[in-house]
Amino acid sequence: MGILVTGGTGYIGSHTVVELLEIGEEVIIVDNLCNSSIDVLDKIEMITGKRPVFYEIDLLDKEKLEFVFKEHQIESVIHFAGLKAVGESVKIPLTYYENNITGTLNLCKIMEKYECRNLVFSSSATVYGMNNTAPFREDMPLSTTNPYGTTKLMIENILRDLYVANHDWHIVLLRYFNPIGAHESGLLGENPKGIPNNLLPYVMQVAIGKLECLSIYGDDYDTKDGTGVRDYIHVVDLAKGHISAVEYARKHEGAEAINLGTGNGYSVLEVVKAFEEASHKHVNYRIAPRRDGDIAICYADASKAKKLLNWEAQKTIDEMCMDSYRFIEKLANA
Ligand code: NAD
Ligand code: WQD
Repeated sequence: MGILVTGGTGYIGSHTVVELLEIGEEVIIVDNLCNSSIDVLDKIEMITGKRPVFYEIDLLDKEKLEFVFKEHQIESVIHFAGLKAVGESVKIPLTYYENNITGTLNLCKIMEKYECRNLVFSSSATVYGMNNTAPFREDMPLSTTNPYGTTKLMIENILRDLYVANHDWHIVLLRYFNPIGAHESGLLGENPKGIPNNLLPYVMQVAIGKLECLSIYGDDYDTKDGTGVRDYIHVVDLAKGHISAVEYARKHEGAEAINLGTGNGYSVLEVVKAFEEASHKHVNYRIAPRRDGDIAICYADASKAKKLLNWEAQKTIDEMCMDSYRFIEKLANA
């Protein structure tokens, strides 16, 4: 019996695979490598001493995906695979809807056929939209501001409908806040292609001299220092949340939305300062206009995860920055 991890060579997926292997789970990865590299398998093996089974398959290829269910007895699925760049989703919405929605429909149809109905899905805090006030609770009204976010909300709705139709489904919808950090070995982490969109990858590249200067998008928000506030969560804490979510899904029918965040908010300036202290590097920045679609403050009410999953984030912002720096430094010197 194994756990299928779609998107398992990606940033969050690879850290989750490490945690699963460490507790003795059998892992089967499906990834089309559109945003990750095959080398990740070597890194996972270096850390855990085990190599997960890997299939280079696109979720849009239903026949090949079904082959995996024929070959292996899949007991649960953690579904990370998806496209995730907000700005890109505005430019190529059809690609996002096709990849994220059709990919998920294909997966669920095959799961139904093979009577594998334990599913943990990667949703996002982006589904809280622009009209709620932090801390965000799972029962707040949902809305989105871009096609990427809409795919997440649509998939949540599809999965809720699936449970209504068949109460044998055990589904957990994990709403991640802002995952950052890297594995403490420095072997796994986030290294986006091109110019990063997200704060930490950008800061990391400024720190190693690959980019010149961080633009801070607005210093006139109604926050502690005027810059945007977010709930940054260490990717290893997030990965551990998936272990708890799989265990929960095995025991509970439903389609339960659960936040994975720390419950704390840090401003952009606080993150820059924490990163400078952790790395002993100077991070050049300038204040730029606000970025379209940004909200001032976003952080989780993390109490449901504690109650249902018995999970809480452990790592501090300093550890997040230290581990991110170790990863990027190692990569730069490789
Ligand atoms: P990632 O891009 O590093 O990982 C996603 C993986 O899925 C990649 O390895 C990619 O090659 C693969 N993939 C994409 N489409 C596929 C397809 N059709 N078939 C097979 N494989 C495919 O991203 P991540 O940061 O690890 O995010 C994982 C999931 O979590 C995504 O669904 C993302 O939307 C969600 N999420 C991420 C964040 C974040 O800030 N990183 C926040 C909230 C939610
Ligand atoms: C964080 C803060 C920016 C870059 C995004 C997605 C969300 C989720 C997580 C997937 C904000 C500021 C950023 C920069 C800056 N992903 N910033 N300069 O926007 O909270 O969330 O990633 O589901 O859906 O929208 O994350 O890292 O882009 O920004 O000042 O160069 O840093 O304005 O306040 P965000 P982020």
